[in-house]
Amino acid sequence: MSHADPRPTFYLTTPIYYANARPHVGSAYTTLVADTVARFKRMQGYDVAFLTGTDEHGENIARAAAKVGISPKELVDRNSAIFRALWDELGIGYTHFIRTTSSDHLRAVRRLLLRARDAGHVYKSFYQGRYCVHDNLYVTDSSEPADCPLCGRPAELVSEENYFFKLSAFQDRLMKLYEEQPDFIRPPFRRNEILRWVESGLRDISVSRKTVKWGLPWPDDPEHVIYVWYDALTSYLSGIGYGDDELQWEKYWPAQLHLIGKEIIRFHCVYWPAFLMAAEEPLPKCIFAHGWLLFEQQKMSKSKGNVAYPEPIARTVGADALRYYLLREVSFGQDGNFSHDALLTRYNSDLANGLGNLANRTLSMIERYCAGEIPAASPQATGEPEKALAGAVAGTIRTAIEQYEDLSFSRALEAIWSAVAQVDGYLTSQRPWTLAEDPAQRARLETVLYHAAESIRIIVALAHPSLPEATAKIWGQMGQFSRLGELRLDQLSWGGLRPGTKIGELAAVFPRVEKSEVLEKIAIMEEEILKPKQTPAAAPSGTPAAAPAPAAAAPAKPGKIGIDDFLKVEMRVGQVKSAEKVVGADKLLKVMVDIGDEMRQIVAGIATVYSPEQLVGRKVIVVCNLEPRKLRGVESNGMIVAASAAPDGQPTLAGFLEDVPVGARLK
Ligand code: MSP
Repeated sequence: MSHADPRPTFYLTTPIYYANARPHVGSAYTTLVADTVARFKRMQGYDVAFLTGTDEHGENIARAAAKVGISPKELVDRNSAIFRALWDELGIGYTHFIRTTSSDHLRAVRRLLLRARDAGHVYKSFYQGRYCVHDNLYVTDSSEPADCPLCGRPAELVSEENYFFKLSAFQDRLMKLYEEQPDFIRPPFRRNEILRWVESGLRDISVSRKTVKWGLPWPDDPEHVIYVWYDALTSYLSGIGYGDDELQWEKYWPAQLHLIGKEIIRFHCVYWPAFLMAAEEPLPKCIFAHGWLLFEQQKMSKSKGNVAYPEPIARTVGADALRYYLLREVSFGQDGNFSHDALLTRYNSDLANGLGNLANRTLSMIERYCAGEIPAASPQATGEPEKALAGAVAGTIRTAIEQYEDLSFSRALEAIWSAVAQVDGYLTSQRPWTLAEDPAQRARLETVLYHAAESIRIIVALAHPSLPEATAKIWGQMGQFSRLGELRLDQLSWGGLRPGTKIGELAAVFPRVEKSEVLEKIAIMEEEILKPKQTPAAAPSGTPAAAPAPAAAAPAKPGKIGIDDFLKVEMRVGQVKSAEKVVGADKLLKVMVDIGDEMRQIVAGIATVYSPEQLVGRKVIVVCNLEPRKLRGVESNGMIVAASAAPDGQPTLAGFLEDVPVGARLK
């Protein structure tokens, strides 16, 4: 690196999701929360690494693939793409995506395991017990029939020679860790749960499987595969370059925050720190276990058949509406109910009638009464109501930041929405529409509108981590050209709105909806998602579709393509890392492009216009899901998008005027 980034780092992760089915609202929950934290931390001046990914090994994956008659690799390729497409659709700004079938990951797992083995923490022995293939959990160490405590299914009898990890040897060190670092496990009641469990005694655990074939081979003993949780947990290291890109790994590790659901707390709070201790690697700072989203009174879960999907919600009322509802309605850490009906009620009351309406009516008055320019507040016309409003909004900045910092999203939003109500009340009592009728009240009118607009600016900035898309739109409507996500919340204070700023074009960001109509649309779209796809490898109802097809898209007219056809083309922002001429071909360059989670070799016919030096560092648009092909014997894996200008068809590379992160999807 040529110059060091002076910002402090913050590394956070979601669990990596089993790639045996498509994500539902429950699986999206952790990711939406993580995205909110990532955005908040960026707005606090941190250099944030945000990892998510897919967990692609284990018996549950192999069985799901066998059920639909395809290979495990095909299944996970398909489902991992569905996860990524959903995260893109929901506007998730992850910076790293790890797949446990990637070669980088394999190297990292071997490294961690060998370090533990070489330090004497792994041994071979005979195992007999009950194992749940669905949750990859050792249920008991006896052959007596037992049900899995997580999913309730009968656990299967397993007896074989295995490698064991000396978990029992770490009991004291773990207890010491929980004592010395009380925030290692949050919330506190989860910490107590783990303390009690560890206190009651730890047994060594088997970390290899002979019967399972779909997994990472054990180093030097390929008859065994590595236990899927050892494999999966290591993704938190491999995702940021462990054993591969040491600079990056050292920059971000240890993670500040692992966000997880409460059912996987033992793996994270006991096994994971012990695996790291055994390999003498630093420990993460905090593991936060949230509750479950319940749907029809039970954990939302594919196997129970009680799931809601995020796409229909995003396509009807927007991804921000889903985020807002989940963050506001569920007290983070506790279980919470999910219902489409309650979501739409919140949408209409808090978003359409609340923030959306407040922004729209204030900016419309500025357009009408002030020729579309932010007016100035005059000191003479500023009185008690203004001081009270500015004081309240300053208080909101403090409270919202404190609550976000504490991961109390519901409280942060409550505080921000109480400011929305306050501004609403201020407008109702100051009646700018009446002031506008009397030219003698001009200074007063402008003062009132300035105060309302400045309050909205602050509200919008504070709400940005939770509602990224809508707040950015309002920001633009307020004539703000800076990137809202780059604004520093810790430097936010009253008075930042510049009088004279020309406001942008106005449009309602949260149009009011008719609940019954939207509910019906959502139901149709959900059905569409669950329909078997008419492809040779079609999955039966309820299993993943071949591609993330937008549900209920209208059939395309002749000569046109539907949005679903367009979405099949996966275009991403890439950055050229190196380029060289292809020997014997005047027009071709061999270019290595970073597309976010992998490096692609692409052969591009642009050598007549671009020299290799001109390309290095440049951001380009890459079509990522083209069949690989060979050009002059050199493999090309994707395409760089360029305009071909008449009359000679010379290429001009497509790009961006604004800065855009590598890996971002175009759509
Ligand atoms: N692959 C493991 C995690 C390995 S992490 C090293 C796994 N995957 S999972 O797909 O079954 O679940 C992952 C996470 O999804 C849960 O921990 C939780 O964060 C989230 N959720 C899945 N269903 C959920 C609800 N109904 N409610 C809330 N979160 C839920 O476990």
